[in-house]
Amino acid sequence: MNVYDGQRIQNMLVLLGYEKTDSVNDADVIILNTCAVREKATNKVFSALGRIRDCKKENAIFGIVGCVARESGEDAFRRMPELNFVLGPQSYHKLPLILDNPDQKYLHTDLSGLEKFDKLPAMTSSKLIQYIPIQEGCNHCCSYCIVPFTRGPEISRSFMDIMNDVRLAAEQGTLEICFLGQNVNGYNFQDSNFNFRLSDLIKESAKISNIKRIRYTSSYPTEMTDDLIDLHGTESKLLPFLNLPIQSGSPAVLKAMNRSYSIQDYLAIIDKLRAKRPDVQISSDFIVGFPGETDKDFEMTCRLAKKLGYINSYSFKYSKRPHTSAALMQNQIPESIKKERLKILDEILNENMRTFNMSCIGKTFDCLLDEKNYRTPYMQQVVVNAGNLKSKLQKYPKIKITDGNKCSLRGIICEA
Ligand code: 5AD
Ligand code: SF4
Repeated sequence: MNVYDGQRIQNMLVLLGYEKTDSVNDADVIILNTCAVREKATNKVFSALGRIRDCKKENAIFGIVGCVARESGEDAFRRMPELNFVLGPQSYHKLPLILDNPDQKYLHTDLSGLEKFDKLPAMTSSKLIQYIPIQEGCNHCCSYCIVPFTRGPEISRSFMDIMNDVRLAAEQGTLEICFLGQNVNGYNFQDSNFNFRLSDLIKESAKISNIKRIRYTSSYPTEMTDDLIDLHGTESKLLPFLNLPIQSGSPAVLKAMNRSYSIQDYLAIIDKLRAKRPDVQISSDFIVGFPGETDKDFEMTCRLAKKLGYINSYSFKYSKRPHTSAALMQNQIPESIKKERLKILDEILNENMRTFNMSCIGKTFDCLLDEKNYRTPYMQQVVVNAGNLKSKLQKYPKIKITDGNKCSLRGIICEA
């Protein structure tokens, strides 16, 4: 979501006549787009702001947008009085007005809902992969998570608005769309006679011939409804890869996290998905060292990560966040244990990835050019062999995988 917000801000500034620079010293405007999900990211924002203040041009305007802005509010000005603006994730469409008034200070961290999407200029992009936000915010109350506070309750964009974005992207040359949301499969838009779900957006987008691949992130397990699971079996443009965070393999930890599913519920969803689409692969997010997590709880997570063979997963040490109930729990885990557990889990996840990558050798996939390399339908990166560079201009070739390691694959483009 932050990558998307960053693109959107850049798009808006270019339309105002600004040019991108790679040097902070040259910039007239400096905007930090920020994430508050873990404490380390928040701390990094303020140390980066200190460095920027010390090397920026004297009159350069600078400010922060995103979740740290919402989390810190006025306090951001106390910590960094030189800031010109502090804008929460739903207020960055106000930037043009702010940049016109460089002598004023602005603080907008309220949750203004969908106003942002109505006010932003149309997205101009020549990217082959385009993110499209369909909902923001989250109604779940995971006890560790700051997102319901920073992004607010769930709101779904209108089906028509989203489909306009998809059609515009397709006209501009996009081949893959990724529907985005904090709780993307909770998408729910009601008009006078129809209740639109994520599966409706996927079906409608798949009708556009220029769109070759569709994916979505990030999902909540219990919102994998049958319409969506069935579509994985029938819609070939829907990639056989999805992020379905389990967070922990221990029933006790899941309960303390206030995740609303059991391990059995979760496994049943994966079984259903695999019955519809046998080649589907799953990625997950994991938190280690949640308050009260015992060695036994952690072992359950490791066993599950091995058993399900998760690929492309994310693992994090639990981080205490303001506005969350887990921060008040008494049984916090020492940092040294969190670190140790993260290392063990990461080894398992890396080994899973290596095994999966090796199993791809000899197979041929339709791959999409993403910046400089290609991406398989499982979003693995494929480096094309040097002798094959002549065909490298192809945007969506078939590639035969010739080699792999835990990070990436090598392959050759098959002649058309
Ligand atoms: N500490 C560590 N990781 C967290 N996440 C969310 N909140 C926290 C926290 N307080 C992780 C979850 C989520 C991902 C986006 O970030 O795994 O799925
Ligand atoms: Fe945070 Fe995701 Fe839980 Fe929502 S479902 S509270 S975004 S971890």
